[in-house]
Amino acid sequence: MSNGQTFQMLAKTFEGLEDILAEELVTLGAQNVVPHKRAVTFEGDNHVMYKANYASRLALRILKPIHSFKASDEDSLYKGAGEIEWWKIFNIHQTFSIDAVVNNAPMFRNSMFASLRVKDAIADQFRNKYGERPSVAKDNPDFRISVHIQGHDATISMDSTGESLHRRGYRALEHIAPLNEVLAAALVKFSGWDMNSNLVDPMCGSGTILIEAGMQMLNIPPGYFRKHYAFQSWKDFDNSLWGDVRESFRTKSVRPSFKLRGVDIKARSVEQARENIRAAGLQRFITIEQADFRDFIPPDGGGYIITNPPYGERISVEDIEKLYKDFGDKMKKDFAGYTAWVISSGTEALKAIELHVSKKHTLFNGALECKFQKYELYEGTKKTVTKELEAK
Ligand SMILES: C[S@@+](CC[C@H](N)C(=O)[O-])C[C@H]1O[C@@H](n2cnc3c(N)ncnc32)[C@H](O)[C@@H]1O
Repeated sequence: MSNGQTFQMLAKTFEGLEDILAEELVTLGAQNVVPHKRAVTFEGDNHVMYKANYASRLALRILKPIHSFKASDEDSLYKGAGEIEWWKIFNIHQTFSIDAVVNNAPMFRNSMFASLRVKDAIADQFRNKYGERPSVAKDNPDFRISVHIQGHDATISMDSTGESLHRRGYRALEHIAPLNEVLAAALVKFSGWDMNSNLVDPMCGSGTILIEAGMQMLNIPPGYFRKHYAFQSWKDFDNSLWGDVRESFRTKSVRPSFKLRGVDIKARSVEQARENIRAAGLQRFITIEQADFRDFIPPDGGGYIITNPPYGERISVEDIEKLYKDFGDKMKKDFAGYTAWVISSGTEALKAIELHVSKKHTLFNGALECKFQKYELYEGTKKTVTKELEAK
């Protein structure tokens, strides 16, 4: 499809997801894909840009760099930003916003200052040409501009995404500590769940992990429920190409013999999970029940557990280590044949699980550094533990 002009792009993501995002972008047709810290650069045409926005589960936003230059101080930033012909990109009746990130550049007092200088350059250019200027809008601007300064190197990009890609459009009710959808999608990928066996989240909150897993299983694009992307306001927006991109993703019809099950002790979480699952159209595939995981009987036949227990940060738990210890005991007792993955920032709490960690990823849930740890619960685990207890 589309042999449009090829250009550079940059997909932003969370630290730790760069390599799997790079692999995903290759499958979406991206070329010259290179992972960096919290970002992946790649090349493609509008077709690839639309696809990356619509179908990347692991990207937070897709930027299209339009100008790179040396910016050793605020004046050179102003001058460089003024070299872009903004009046060709948008008009005085449209709104814009600017996000700036400044690294290793002490000559800029802060990122706010950098964004103000770029805003001045844009406003002055319009004023000089038309005697009027477009307005800045914090909420729902027509155009989002991204400024990145690394040392003396500045890059100005157009943000093709708008509202972050983790906003899939299925979250009807918000949990107090929801997992970001992009991180949840990454956990499902890292876990190696084969989409052909039981999947249990015994502390499921609003159900994000199960919903992302269900969408992957049915091949529902992450943008399926989303209403708008920033590139739809661009002058070169190709509506028919956009239609082709959406058409090219076919959801799978699946009649699973296995189960996707969620459990949460709180009635409110159960309500949120059920509502979100309904909004994602996955109610036939995922069941949620209100229970303490200690009382939950897992589906037969083994499978996967992926869970995000409380860390004791946003949700206070009286004895966080006891919760993890009981969770470890429950897995040993009732989950033989399962492979379990647990994400937590609680280093001491994780130790209380007292099971052998067979694999580990370091990931970030917002600012919190977390470990995502794997435990294999062989049939033998149960016997070994029982014997150990008997011997005591
Ligand atoms: C960090 S939240 C999970 C958030 C979830 N991943 C999401 O995206 O919404 C942890 C959840 O564990 C639940 N929880 C705490 N103790 C539990 C227990 N003993 N049994 C079942 N659920 C429990 C809490 O009610 C909370 O909803």
